[in-house]
Amino acid sequence: MRSLLFVPADSPKKLDKGMTSGADAVIVDLEDSIALDGKSQARLSAAAFLKEAAGVTSRPYLVVRVNSLQTGLTDTDLDAVVLAKPDAIMLPKAEGGAAVIHADAKLAVREARGDLPEGHVKIIALATETAAALFLAGTYRGASTRLSALTWGAEDLSADLGAETNRDAEGHFLDPYRLARALCLAGAAAAEVPALDTVYVDFRDSDGLRRECEEARRDGFTAKMAIHPAQVPIINEVFTPTREALAHARAIIDAFAASPGAGVVGIGGVMFDQPHLERAKRLLARAKAKVR
Ligand code: COA
Ligand code: MG
Repeated sequence: MRSLLFVPADSPKKLDKGMTSGADAVIVDLEDSIALDGKSQARLSAAAFLKEAAGVTSRPYLVVRVNSLQTGLTDTDLDAVVLAKPDAIMLPKAEGGAAVIHADAKLAVREARGDLPEGHVKIIALATETAAALFLAGTYRGASTRLSALTWGAEDLSADLGAETNRDAEGHFLDPYRLARALCLAGAAAAEVPALDTVYVDFRDSDGLRRECEEARRDGFTAKMAIHPAQVPIINEVFTPTREALAHARAIIDAFAASPGAGVVGIGGVMFDQPHLERAKRLLARAKAKVR
């Protein structure tokens, strides 16, 4: 999975557009893009869309961002959408593995009631949206087999920290958010799930988006979330492993295969050891995996 496009759940028109946007996943949003008064209508719209979309062949992965456990709205959200069989929910303002275990139990109850196999609905945790969450980013490992990715957010975190802004004049994230980003990466790697980069809100600035995608890929993120369809092709391009990167990975694997038992090999005057081999295998696995 390379791109995940947020779509407000109350807009059937945008939901349809999301399906044909080229995004690997559509995130139907019941949280921040929906005002409190509009939540019930948005739940109905989300469920109707999911029922229809789930049957479409070669469709994007379908995710619903529910309201956080702190709001008391999560149960009503899940009651509305689980039976429409989303592939995953996104859990905002997650505070560590305990929040995932909590959401897991809520999903299991609905799956049992709806005659869905237990564990059908996966969980993507938004792991850095509160100050407390930062201190719990290392607790996702082993929380639930439903946990399929971690991602991070800077908007709610800046509100929780009482900050005036989260980026500097050049558009680069300031220190507290760079910490959140790094904790997401480390927390995801520790939990052995992919790390997904946060949204780039300035949706007309394609150069800025591309730069942020490249920095994310460099640092170990395997995908990025989008808020506008125009962002999807850029994200897909940057996160699709290049022919050169794949050829390089294959060369490393072949070199080790040609020297059974070797811990280290040289290729073209450069040393490669176990971490390089591991990285090469992961890149090939990602390229081979189905889009989702
Ligand atoms: N998903 C699907 N379609 C979208 C879309 C999205 N996220 N964002 C825009 N579009 C559609 C628009 O409906 C419009 O369609 P049309 O040409 O058929 O009228 C087209 O893409 C161009 O949109 P544009 O005019 O450039 O933007 P806008 O002013 O209509 O919308 C936003 C701007 C920010 C309101 C919109 O991009 C959006 O809703 N983004 C998602 C917000 C969200 O989910 N936030 C929560 C996560 S942070
Ligand atoms: Mg938010």
